[in-house]
Amino acid sequence: MAGPPVFLSARDVGSFAYLTVKDRLPQILTKAIDTLHRHKSEFFEKHGEKGLEAEKKAISLLSKLRNELQTDKPIVPLVEKFVDTDLWNQYLEYQQSLLNESNGKPRWFLSPWLFVECYMYRRIHEAIIQSPPIDDFDIFKELKDQNFFESQESIIALCTHLQELMKTIEDLDENQLKNEFFKVLQISLWGNKCDLSLSGGKTISQKTNLINSLEDLKPFILVNDMEHLWSLLSNCKKKREKASITRVDIVLDNSGFELVTDLVLADLLLSSKLATEIHFYGKMIPWFVSDTTLHDFNWIIKQLKHSNHKWVSKCGVDWENHIKMGRWVYLDHMFWTLPHEFSAMPQVAPDLYATLQKAHLILFKGDLNYRKLTGDRRWEFTIPFHEALNGFHPAPVCSIRTLKAEVQVGLQPGQGEQLTASVPNWLTIGKYGIFQFDGPL
Ligand code: F6P
Ligand code: MG
Repeated sequence: MAGPPVFLSARDVGSFAYLTVKDRLPQILTKAIDTLHRHKSEFFEKHGEKGLEAEKKAISLLSKLRNELQTDKPIVPLVEKFVDTDLWNQYLEYQQSLLNESNGKPRWFLSPWLFVECYMYRRIHEAIIQSPPIDDFDIFKELKDQNFFESQESIIALCTHLQELMKTIEDLDENQLKNEFFKVLQISLWGNKCDLSLSGGKTISQKTNLINSLEDLKPFILVNDMEHLWSLLSNCKKKREKASITRVDIVLDNSGFELVTDLVLADLLLSSKLATEIHFYGKMIPWFVSDTTLHDFNWIIKQLKHSNHKWVSKCGVDWENHIKMGRWVYLDHMFWTLPHEFSAMPQVAPDLYATLQKAHLILFKGDLNYRKLTGDRRWEFTIPFHEALNGFHPAPVCSIRTLKAEVQVGLQPGQGEQLTASVPNWLTIGKYGIFQFDGPL
């Protein structure tokens, strides 16, 4: 059998990877620099002269990074000691070894897109940790919070929907429950439109009530394995002995509105007894602009709890309780902010792989997770998802993702070609979505 195909890369001039490296990544860096500028007086108030020096230093490191990117310089090793520095530098050596024959060096417009894009976010983090006392500053926090505040109306509608549902959840028959489960799954899928890296850091929020649009959005679901998720979890529920557990793991993506949709899904899983425990995984450092960190996770739950709206606040209170009681567990791991594809997890992060193996189902939110599941390669559209996972089968997995990168597998013959003919950029505009499942049925 032939190995996986080549990585997506900015070396393919005109591809989405190319446009990202050429335009979107420098834009994100420019925004980050601007954010530091705007926080100057805050740094001064907090840390005095030292704060100002730190701001200058971080800005100069980020400007240097932007210049390296735009002039396609070789990718250089990380210098500042952090938990993952050695793994990053080993990965860079590995990329180097792939090029040894051609005497080349890993570069922004030559190396795999996934690698260079992750590397940029890791270098942003390096610039910040090299600039104490502002070394705990989350350069993207403002944008994440803004997305949350701008989505208030939709969040109110969602929390109200959930709380109304709670009143009758015990009385729902199988079909009604399945229906409600499918609704929150779709809400969580379309919540993934709210990623802030695709827009170059401009906020995209959910201004309308998503629940009313679900029917209209159905034709845009290209792979729909929701039924598999239902059979898996409803079987777990039927067979479950009194004291045993069903654990669903959610590998989170973006904070803000998307995170709220994921928490609504997680709450429904518990209250319907389709699951008894949820593990969430977030990022250890600010990542791809809008990804969820522990701080974002706690911040959002606190915001909801203190809302003036009774159902929103009820959600906040309930969710804090789930955490207190250990029904919800938030975990982070440095693996999620490494450049490796997930098939490398057993070697690179065996502890995390062993943890995931204990789940009954793992939901991977978002586009970046999909790229890492499939190795971000130029797969043919019809290659089975199982094959593209390249041996990554810790437990049954499902990707819940809107498409924002030129990788998609598991389509019907002709489906991809038809889409290309009618909507040439269907892979990258975030308008289409998938529920793609892999696991025994
Ligand atoms: O290219 C769009 C992009 O910035 C990709 O780099 C990345 O895969 C994606 O957006 C992030 O989206 P998500 O938040 O869904 O993972
Ligand atoms: Mg994201």
